[in-house]
Amino acid sequence: MKGKRTVLSRFFGTGCQQGVDARLPPPNIASMLEQIIGKKSFPISGSALRELAAPYGAFHADLGTGDGMFVYRHARAQADVFYLGVDADRSSLAESSAKAAKKPARGGAANAAFVCFNLLDVPEDMTGIADHVFVNFPWGSLMYAWVEPNIEAIRSMAAIGKKGADFSFYLNLYVFQNEEQRQHMNLPDVDEAYVTGTLIPAYEKAGITIHNHAFLDALELKDHPSTWAGRLIRRSGRETLYMTGKIG
Ligand SMILES: C[S@@+](CC[C@H](N)C(=O)[O-])C[C@H]1O[C@@H](n2cnc3c(N)ncnc32)[C@H](O)[C@@H]1O
Repeated sequence: MKGKRTVLSRFFGTGCQQGVDARLPPPNIASMLEQIIGKKSFPISGSALRELAAPYGAFHADLGTGDGMFVYRHARAQADVFYLGVDADRSSLAESSAKAAKKPARGGAANAAFVCFNLLDVPEDMTGIADHVFVNFPWGSLMYAWVEPNIEAIRSMAAIGKKGADFSFYLNLYVFQNEEQRQHMNLPDVDEAYVTGTLIPAYEKAGITIHNHAFLDALELKDHPSTWAGRLIRRSGRETLYMTGKIG
């Protein structure tokens, strides 16, 4: 009984706490994720996700996808790529997942899926699934993990990528460049020295080799399709740290 409770809490994880129906755990619940479609959620396994993605040429995963518009827009534009959006906040996924579930002629995208789990506790069967891992404008515990940096958490997120997968990372520096706010939030000063001396070596230890990094201004990101890119960049005009590399 004790073991079962532990497994259930791992399944639903922190951030995905609504909708738990203890009467309905499938037999193999340890390997189940929570797929969001509109306001509903359904258990789905990592292998079922792989099957959904099998007809497509590549699997792209967006970690901390928020409202999922990055996933939805890319999926609509790239019919040969399967896009997965992951977020701990189930409600944020409702709208994009509902749009994606429609028929293609009505704006649907069969090549998009959305799952809810805490990225600080990545389920085992998400390992080695993606050809490209995106982290777009992380916030909250996700941001702290990437900037502290928390090597263990980064390693488990990186492991979502296959060996040789591409990695893309955007961090808006609005709060980092406001000294009062930065200190209040107990954040490091993310400048060139911190990126090269702390972040890149830590990411390397966690299994991500960074090949390029740059501090971008708002104009360079004006076409980024995520919602927070629009909010943070177009309005604040602050710099964004951009890093790309390979996993594994
Ligand atoms: C600023 S929003 C960015 C959303 C989106 N990537 C975009 O660019 O529009 C950060 C997202 O990270 C999610 N997040 C924060 N901590 C998380 C965690 N531990 N696991 C999964 N998602 C997390 C939040 O729920 C939020 O939706």
